[in-house]
Amino acid sequence: MRTVASSPEIRIDSYLSAGEERSLAYDVLDGLTRPFKEIPPKHFYDARGSELFERICELPEYYPTRTEREILSARAQDIVRCSGAGELVELGSGSAEKARILLGAMSAAGTLRRYVPLDVSESALEAAALELVDEFDELTVHGVIGDFERHLDRVPRGPADGASRIVALLGGTIGNFPPGTRRRMLRQIGALLGPEDRLLLGTDLVKNPAVLEAAYDDSQGVTAEFNRNVLHVINRELEADFAPEAFEHIAFYDREHEWVEMRLRARRPCTVWVAALGLRVQFAAGEELRTEISAKFTRARVEDDFRAAGLRLECWYTDSDQLFALSLARRL
Ligand code: SAH
Ligand code: TRP
Repeated sequence: MRTVASSPEIRIDSYLSAGEERSLAYDVLDGLTRPFKEIPPKHFYDARGSELFERICELPEYYPTRTEREILSARAQDIVRCSGAGELVELGSGSAEKARILLGAMSAAGTLRRYVPLDVSESALEAAALELVDEFDELTVHGVIGDFERHLDRVPRGPADGASRIVALLGGTIGNFPPGTRRRMLRQIGALLGPEDRLLLGTDLVKNPAVLEAAYDDSQGVTAEFNRNVLHVINRELEADFAPEAFEHIAFYDREHEWVEMRLRARRPCTVWVAALGLRVQFAAGEELRTEISAKFTRARVEDDFRAAGLRLECWYTDSDQLFALSLARRL
């Protein structure tokens, strides 16, 4: 563990060492030597990737961010009252835009104490911590730079006096896990919850495929650039020589699985040398690399996943167009 920041208000611990940076090397070795190539989505988010994601959130086509924010603004008071929470743990916190709304409601209720963001993106986490302690006098931040698939056990324990907390996973991030892993992830998050704690989960909902596909393939090409960013990350971190512009951004809705899938398709045959791994990878013309799935949910699907993970749905909040949902859940 490396302490990145330590002051009376802010403490940030990092569990990502420069060398094993997000286990990218293993993921590239495993993912690019398969018959159907694949890279897990967490590698999008270096400083540039986090910035591009912020721009995606502002796009007219990308409705999830503004819709989730709207639901939160309308319901934050309810959520805080229902849980009585004074602490917010947020997994994949990014810019903490949405945390701000919840922390504001906790502050108004007089319960606010601590925010515990966990993210792989050090730049995003540090910036968010500084802004938030400025905004809320009573707040302390204990940030964890880590991978939520590997470092959940590094999340600090809840308040000593037994005050309850909310553990949030927003932005539809749960949809980025393949189905089996998704339930395992929910079970592991459930293990962070005490009997009075709540999970707050944001899920994008099943809808018209044209709306979904536009959200992942915007007219300005920001999402395309974000998708290709993973190639820039591999080039830099593993001394590879991908030509990112040789790969076309693909996003489509898979109706059978009810998820959006993002891929990068080689426009021409490519040979890529990954120097740090001594690995040569061939792409045939038209060959695709899967970079993300983003599952879309119904209420029944969320309830099934919760049950399988030892959780139960307590409140279901959605917008008037049923685009996105927030669920509040607790341990069974
Ligand atoms: N919660 C924010 C950001 C969602 S984007 C919102 O709702 O807008 C997903 C966030 O999760 C990014 O900040 C990314 O850096 C982070 N992330 C992705 N994979 C991760 C992983 N395996 N471990 C920790 N953080 C991860
Ligand atoms: N969790 C987000 C989602 O599934 C991540 C995301 C949004 C994303 N837009 C993207 C990831 C575009 C890659 C490309 O909606």
